[in-house]
Amino acid sequence: MSGAHGEHGSARRFPPGFLWGAATAAYQVEGAVHEDGRGGSIWDTFSRTPGAVLHGDTGDVGTDHYHRVVEDVALMADLGLSAYRFSVAWPRVQPTGRGPANPAGLDFYRRLVDLLRDRGIAPLVTLYHWDLPQPLQDAGGWAERDTAWRFADYAGLVADALGDRVHLWTTLNEPWCSAYLGYASGEHAPGVQDPAQALAAVHTLNLAHGLGTRAVRAAAGDDATVSLTLNLQVNRAASDRPEDVAARDRLDRVANEVFLGPLLDGAYPEGVVAETARYSDWSFVRDGDLDLIRTRLDALGVNYYTTSLVGAVAGDAGDGALAPSASPDAADRPPADLADVTWHDRPGPRTAMGWLVEPAGLTDLLLDLHRRYPDLPLYVLENGAAYPDEVGPDGQVHDPDRVAYLHDHVEAVGRALDSGADVRGYTAWTLMDNFEWAFGYERRFGLVHVDRTTMARTVKDSGRWYRRLATTGVLPP
Ligand code: NOJ
Repeated sequence: MSGAHGEHGSARRFPPGFLWGAATAAYQVEGAVHEDGRGGSIWDTFSRTPGAVLHGDTGDVGTDHYHRVVEDVALMADLGLSAYRFSVAWPRVQPTGRGPANPAGLDFYRRLVDLLRDRGIAPLVTLYHWDLPQPLQDAGGWAERDTAWRFADYAGLVADALGDRVHLWTTLNEPWCSAYLGYASGEHAPGVQDPAQALAAVHTLNLAHGLGTRAVRAAAGDDATVSLTLNLQVNRAASDRPEDVAARDRLDRVANEVFLGPLLDGAYPEGVVAETARYSDWSFVRDGDLDLIRTRLDALGVNYYTTSLVGAVAGDAGDGALAPSASPDAADRPPADLADVTWHDRPGPRTAMGWLVEPAGLTDLLLDLHRRYPDLPLYVLENGAAYPDEVGPDGQVHDPDRVAYLHDHVEAVGRALDSGADVRGYTAWTLMDNFEWAFGYERRFGLVHVDRTTMARTVKDSGRWYRRLATTGVLPP
């Protein structure tokens, strides 16, 4: 599917039917954490842990989306979106992570789906965007294999309620973050720092995807479109010295291939077990597990923000203690010791997250996936940038850096389409400024500004820019 044909200096037209959306996640926007029977999640617990989140922010209020859902769907329609990617909060549906569904929890999402469909906006549903019910963490969380079966039960309840009205399902969002930030570096909930648990979590998450996919199909019908959404790292080697290339390859295995391998190739990548042997013997992989993980995948969700430059660790690889971050990029990377790599700084523009702006990495990633899995449809389900936006004296938010970031990354998607990649849609991260996990509300990624006191929504210049793209399908030069 091509059709994007812009050359430098001319407008680029995207294929008809290409989805233009925006994305959010439940804990980042909903608030209302004690309402309608919602149970506690690991993020409720973690955000209350002193020092865990910048300024002690929590998702208690979020953007008050739970109460403003009608207004927010009207805003999406006003922005011309043809898709909205949101996540379902597991602790709303199963307050303790197991047992029958809480009807009030499901009702919120039924209503949201109705509102979206009434406006012609395709619902893209993520089943797990990091808000594990706390009682499941108390029983071991993602390091415990039973959590995969609990997830499948939950997925079945949601699919039963929303049925065939969902355009695209995603089982898990960025399991890399759940495993490595949650259980190795401890930057995310549940804040565990134990590489052995992180590797076990990788496997449980893979199992959860396989079992959850089957549960969605059993409840919503075999023609439900089910995906997994990965934040595959685009790691570039610091030099062509064999030791730097080998370091990059090790990192690719432990960060990317541990998900793609079992999912699409039916095996964990050769080497990764030996390379991480000092942390884990991988005895959590049991006979038959790889068959459970490998299921038909209808599409892959691709989240992309930046690239990294990595190389070998100089000298001794260390004694197994977690290495400090070597560059700002490492803030979004697994602990260096898991792959024995070091991160290198590079010059270039960075967002407020410290992430280097490198649109070409998105083209490279989409084309690499297309070459490996030519029949797999791709959706860019997250891409965007944080900048320190403010409402100016004119009542507007002028965010030219974000407009430029979005422009250049959408152009990068267009280039991948030109070369034959089957990309079906793009959902910008994010609809509105929200709870940016360990960074609280300070990092603003939204197309829409949210005033933290009044919760007033103000469409940024980037939102207006995106509206033109979404309504015309034409990217200006
Ligand atoms: C990844 C996550 O899925 C999302 O929740 C987060 O806010 C963005 N990227 C930005 O960091």
